[in-house]
Amino acid sequence: MLLVGPNDDFNIRLAKNLDVELVALDRRVFPDGEVCPRVLGDTRDEDVVLSIRMEAGSGSPNRYLMEVLFTLRNLKEHMGAKSIILVMPYFPYARQDAIFRAGEPLSSKYLGGLLEAAGADAVISVTVHLHRIGGFSELFEGAKAVNVSGFEALADKIKELPLRDPFILGPDTESIHWARELAHYYGTEEFDAFKKERDVATGEIKTHVKEIDLSGRDVIVVDDMVSTGGTMANAVKEVKRMGARIVVSAFVHPVLAPKAVDRILGAGADIIIATDTIEWSGSKASVVGSIAEAVQGV
Ligand code: R5P
Repeated sequence: MLLVGPNDDFNIRLAKNLDVELVALDRRVFPDGEVCPRVLGDTRDEDVVLSIRMEAGSGSPNRYLMEVLFTLRNLKEHMGAKSIILVMPYFPYARQDAIFRAGEPLSSKYLGGLLEAAGADAVISVTVHLHRIGGFSELFEGAKAVNVSGFEALADKIKELPLRDPFILGPDTESIHWARELAHYYGTEEFDAFKKERDVATGEIKTHVKEIDLSGRDVIVVDDMVSTGGTMANAVKEVKRMGARIVVSAFVHPVLAPKAVDRILGAGADIIIATDTIEWSGSKASVVGSIAEAVQGV
């Protein structure tokens, strides 16, 4: 078995965990934005684990997906790989797991089909944002799909903080699942979630609070991902208003559109903890161990 992917700290640790060689992937991008990912080694007759992460910041999902699709097909068609497990720690387009307005695409399902058609025999991802369908495997016809929890890594990191009387809070109704999962790994039953309304056309967010007594308590506001930071910032602001002492903003995927971090800190968060499912210099928790276990399981 071989690991193919960018020669970064994440993949160096993943290769070490799996005890396999890392074959570097050069992520060349032309000035016009076209990509030409190049596998710098021999993969003939090998079972390959392809691991590539998206970069934080706006505009990168589509470039990232082209890199993944081209590399999969190249490995299968020209580079003789026997089988391919794709490690895609953040699964873009997962939020579009339903057709919300007539004429929109069912993007998450279409992406599953594209990955499979390009050559993925199995896909491993982390905390995939699917609320309206049964599970990650529904995005694929035959490929094996594994959805690893990112909250264990997050909880391990939060446990290192000396928090006083901690309470875990999700910023919207859907996030009660994430709050419950983090609470499970953190070892508490103290969790709840606010409610949020987002205008599907304008994206405007309104947070509805539940009056919970948070005065003097340390609060972990948790979500699966932060994009613009609007959802997280609104919740952090409310939690501060409700008298919280330290506010930790914790999320698995640092998608992070420009200014998202400023927005969250500006709202009053004291600490931000995110995992390394996406390339971001501020990631403090790592999912490498959980992904290595999933690869071994496949
Ligand atoms: C939504 O359902 C997700 O769980 C996140 O709450 C959302 O994607 C965050 O987006 P933003 O940071 O743009 O508010």
